[in-house]
Amino acid sequence: MKWLNLSDNVNLLSIIGAIVIIAVVLIVSLNVFKQMKIKKESVETSEHEWDGISEYKNPLPIGWAVMFVVLIIFAIWYFLIGFPLNKYSSIGEYNEEVANHNAKYKEKYIAFDDESKLNMGRNVFLLHCAPCHGAEATGINGKAQDLTNWSSVAGILDVLENGSTGLGYGEMPAGLVEGDDAKAVATYVANGMQGEVGKDVFETTCAACHGENGEGTEGVAPALNIYTKPDFIKMVLASGKIASADASVKVIGAMPSFKSMLSDEQVDAVARYVSTLSKE
Ligand code: HEC
Ligand code: HEC
Repeated sequence: MKWLNLSDNVNLLSIIGAIVIIAVVLIVSLNVFKQMKIKKESVETSEHEWDGISEYKNPLPIGWAVMFVVLIIFAIWYFLIGFPLNKYSSIGEYNEEVANHNAKYKEKYIAFDDESKLNMGRNVFLLHCAPCHGAEATGINGKAQDLTNWSSVAGILDVLENGSTGLGYGEMPAGLVEGDDAKAVATYVANGMQGEVGKDVFETTCAACHGENGEGTEGVAPALNIYTKPDFIKMVLASGKIASADASVKVIGAMPSFKSMLSDEQVDAVARYVSTLSKE
């Protein structure tokens, strides 16, 4: 009898409880039967009387009163201490199985080749991201960011033109640089901050917030030396991104944080996938 595992104190207590309840019910109902045989007139009635009919004055059987108090104490104990979340129980077993599965999956994922990781990333994308960004990742007519130009020159020009907000830093104002300077600095950032084109603009305009080498400034602005890499997407997934006040007119709304929704492997996979989407 697998279910009758008396070494588990929760089971043991439940069984003791069940036996006590059966005993009390038996005693009380026998008493009631006994009382039914006693002459009706000898029973005390309350003062309330309707057309000659009045109620019995039956005190609560002492066993019930005791059970009532004991059950309240048991319920508090069970709620605070006894609930077998991590002891043997179906929930504990489930939690353990999930943890085991995740650990095993992690091992497998590390051994995946790049293509399998990308495929997994694509699946995560279709499930979690496509509802807002679209199956083609083009942002469904501007309702969410177009990820096919994210991190490209066009995407960065867009940031420079419209500014950016919502990653948990302050706000990046729109229109810091325009025209050829904007194109140059966008090229510099899109190339992973390599090369000479745009370097001077970066140093004079962007470095104040984003750091001398684009390493970011804590609490002020994010790192841009990771901007073209999956690392940046991981950061966006951890923080979510709330669109700016004007942008919210056209976009779907806030991009939620996926911190508790996706496992580390899923985040890694989808970040790899998204960083391959840029067409330029
Ligand atoms: C006044 C400080 C400041 C300056 C100057 C600044 N930035 Fe930013 N930048 C920010 C902040 C703050 C964010 C993060 C905004 C957010 O929360 O979305 C940001 C984010 C970005 C992003 C990522 C935005 C996104 O939506 O993906 C890019 C790209 C960027 N900056 C490029 C630049 C470039 C290029 C320059 C120089 C022309 C520059 N920034 C100058 C403060 C600044
Ligand atoms: C509820 C809708 C929604 C979902 C779901 C969603 N996003 Fe977003 N995402 C947005 C919106 C809106 C923006 C634009 C926010 C802004 O820049 O103002 C955005 C922006 C982004 C950006 C650009 C960030 C930047 O700073 O340049 C990336 C990358 C991104 N999302 C990736 C993802 C990935 C990957 C997923 C799936 C795991 C996902 N998003 C799911 C709505 C969503």
